[in-house]
Amino acid sequence: MLIHKITDLAQYAVSPVIREGDTVIDATAGNGLDTEFLAAKAGPSGRVYAFDIQKDALVRTAERLKEKRLDQQVTLIQSGHENLARFISEPVSAVMYNLGYLPGGSRELTTGLDTTLSSFKQALSLLKQGGIITVVLYPGHAEGKHEKEGLMPVISRLSSAEYTVLHQGYLNKKNNPPELVVVQKVLFSSEHPY
Ligand SMILES: C[S@@+](CC[C@H](N)C(=O)[O-])C[C@H]1O[C@@H](n2cnc3c(N)ncnc32)[C@H](O)[C@@H]1O
Repeated sequence: MLIHKITDLAQYAVSPVIREGDTVIDATAGNGLDTEFLAAKAGPSGRVYAFDIQKDALVRTAERLKEKRLDQQVTLIQSGHENLARFISEPVSAVMYNLGYLPGGSRELTTGLDTTLSSFKQALSLLKQGGIITVVLYPGHAEGKHEKEGLMPVISRLSSAEYTVLHQGYLNKKNNPPELVVVQKVLFSSEHPY
């Protein structure tokens, strides 16, 4: 396991809970790296819903998926992830958020606290028992710092009887490096499916 990139850690965290045929969500498609990963995990019988507000991001994601022959199992949605529940009603085993702006795109088009919070709450209600939400935070820029400061109290207050919450960060990287939050819905069954 390589820990240099926090986005890889997010993928490691969700990996064991995604089975072939599952429904999963990439809440911030961007260049499509997480969408590609989720599509490979869910397989041809699964379904990945990938959101982004930018057409450019979805075009890049679509190209990547086509190249890897993973496009069949992905629904690309040009809409804010705050509209999650308008598009998805079935239980999901994973939701990935990689907040911030599109690498190589406009820094103005970054995720924002209000919409992220609204989306996160909808994601919680779609999550299966044992399912995982990952959130990569970027406190190194102003909006990312504001987003982190608004999200962390909400996430920290989640009932420990219902959710396990983990927060990971780098200790020896400079300039407010990215951080990862992993939220898993507690399993009530005595059988461990993963
Ligand atoms: C850091 S990038 C995501 C990178 C992506 N996970 C990847 O693997 O390439 C963040 C993305 O969030 C998108 N975004 C901003 N606000 C959003 C919103 N309300 N809903 C969905 N996506 C949003 C941006 O357009 C940008 O493409």
